[in-house]
Amino acid sequence: MAYNLLKGKKGIIFGALDEKSIAWKVALKAHEEGARFTLTNAPIALRMGQINNLAKTCNAEIIQADATSIEDLEELFKKSMEILDGKIDFVLHSIGMSPNVRKKKSYRDLNYDWFQKTLDISGLSFHKVLQTADKLDAMNEWGSILALSYIAAQRTFPDYSDMAQAKALLESIARSYGYFFAQKSKVRVNTISQSPTMTTAGSGVSGFDIFSDYANKMSPLGNASAEDCANYVVVMFSDLTRKVTMQNLMHDGGFSASGITGDLIEDLIK
Ligand SMILES: NC(=O)c1ccc[n+]([C@@H]2O[C@H](COP(=O)([O-])OP(=O)(O)OC[C@H]3O[C@@H](n4cnc5c(N)ncnc54)[C@H](O)[C@@H]3O)[C@@H](O)[C@H]2O)c1
Repeated sequence: MAYNLLKGKKGIIFGALDEKSIAWKVALKAHEEGARFTLTNAPIALRMGQINNLAKTCNAEIIQADATSIEDLEELFKKSMEILDGKIDFVLHSIGMSPNVRKKKSYRDLNYDWFQKTLDISGLSFHKVLQTADKLDAMNEWGSILALSYIAAQRTFPDYSDMAQAKALLESIARSYGYFFAQKSKVRVNTISQSPTMTTAGSGVSGFDIFSDYANKMSPLGNASAEDCANYVVVMFSDLTRKVTMQNLMHDGGFSASGITGDLIEDLIK
């Protein structure tokens, strides 16, 4: 069911790689809710070509940008304002990558060049997006900027490795920049901490199936799916959440507030 929550709003959506991507589901939902937006991803992701189908469905243009490059980000914001004919109301940062995780380096034997890459792509890039939008004065008043996080920022999940530090950085940037953007133009900045979700980035973490199953049993409402996440993101982009800012918002079926659940006790008894 559509509610027209984003009617007249203009946005930029980072990170739709394939139809499993959280950003892909957000794009479909935002389109359904009446938004116009541009889609963006790194050159290598665009070469995979799947995003073209999404662009067609959503009537959106695709603009290539490596989120670690200020030059690319400036081009992206300028072109998006041209295409959409005005300033931006919402931005989704849905970006994550760790070479250490991808190459299965243990946390006790990290490659530090890769660690810096992890932090740059998955954490610092959010600051670059915010600062670019700020300097270009690209955001409308009461706009909403979101990034996606994971609870490994607060608790240890051994196989999440250096991505845990990247998520802690990401959440901290949302708080710090959220202050300045609120002061400047009432723009809100938040992170959503999402349940384990079966996507390319998610399933790259070893043992993903097991900790996803554990999280599902540890969450009274069960894991939040990518579609559930898209619904929440759309509400956070809408005018119904104007005073929510500088928060890390748990979207995890109750996982983060649960000590133990009946489902897990049953498993342990077996
Ligand atoms: N899948 C999960 O279990 C889960 C849980 C919590 C949070 N998240 C977060 O959700 C976000 C989206 O991930 P996803 O699960 O949809 O996986 P995904 O693999 O579909 O998306 C990750 C995206 O990051 C993009 N990316 C990588 N390097 C980039 C760069 N230099 N510039 C621009 N884009 C770049 C990729 O091309 C890809 O589109 C990530 O921040 C991820 O950490 C995922």
